Amino acid sequence: MRVCPEPIRTGGSTGAVASRTVKVIAIDGPAGSGKSTIARRLADRLGLDYLDTGAMYRAVTFAALRRGIDPADGADVAAIVGDLELEVGPDGVVVDGVDATIEIRGPEVTRAVSLVAANPEVRTDMVRRQRAWTVERGGGVLEGRDIGSVVFPDALLKVYLTARPEVRAARRSKEVADLDYETVATDLARRDALDQGRDESPLVEADDAVVVDTSDLSVDEIVASLVERVGAP
Ligand code: DC
Repeated sequence: MRVCPEPIRTGGSTGAVASRTVKVIAIDGPAGSGKSTIARRLADRLGLDYLDTGAMYRAVTFAALRRGIDPADGADVAAIVGDLELEVGPDGVVVDGVDATIEIRGPEVTRAVSLVAANPEVRTDMVRRQRAWTVERGGGVLEGRDIGSVVFPDALLKVYLTARPEVRAARRSKEVADLDYETVATDLARRDALDQGRDESPLVEADDAVVVDTSDLSVDEIVASLVERVGAP
């Protein structure tokens, strides 16, 4: 599944118009809140495609680092984003023909991605691609930080997932075998602060989002209750 740079014509001037005619489920929340697991399972149950928008910001970060661009240099990063060819799918991420599936989860990209995600030009371009991806499919389950608040403010269902910080850090440290719990917890707190404190589309709970604390709930329970809210497909 290709997140192509070309805008898709929808009859309206913005993707926000299109979201009223397509089935969009927005899943937002901080790292380690369970977004990916729940969004994938929900997409499966509803017969919709799934898009990990965090992987897109990671892919731009990967591209910048690979070209020797300092991720803190907003103008240089902005200059490359429009022409990048990004393919973000369930099996991996390809950036300008290079398989970046592993590297986008590595420490170098993870350290720098919050800076790139705070770049307004990068956000504008990613939001445009996310809307185009969704319109092309007639809907989808999108996970990220600003899906319900900015990308699709009139989504059919908005979910804000959260979990206690120590639960989120424990989940993440299980995924990255080479880093200890303390390092992961510190990095998570740093990224939370950056994602929540930035000027551009900070991580917030949309007013009309269903808020779920996933700390003590099973994935099955959460998915079943969300499927019920959407209604049977
Ligand atoms: O979900 P993740 O950890 O892979 O996200 C990587 C970074 O991208 C994280 O710093 C938050 C940011 N992000 C964002 O700003 N907006 C999104 N829609 C998705 C991710």
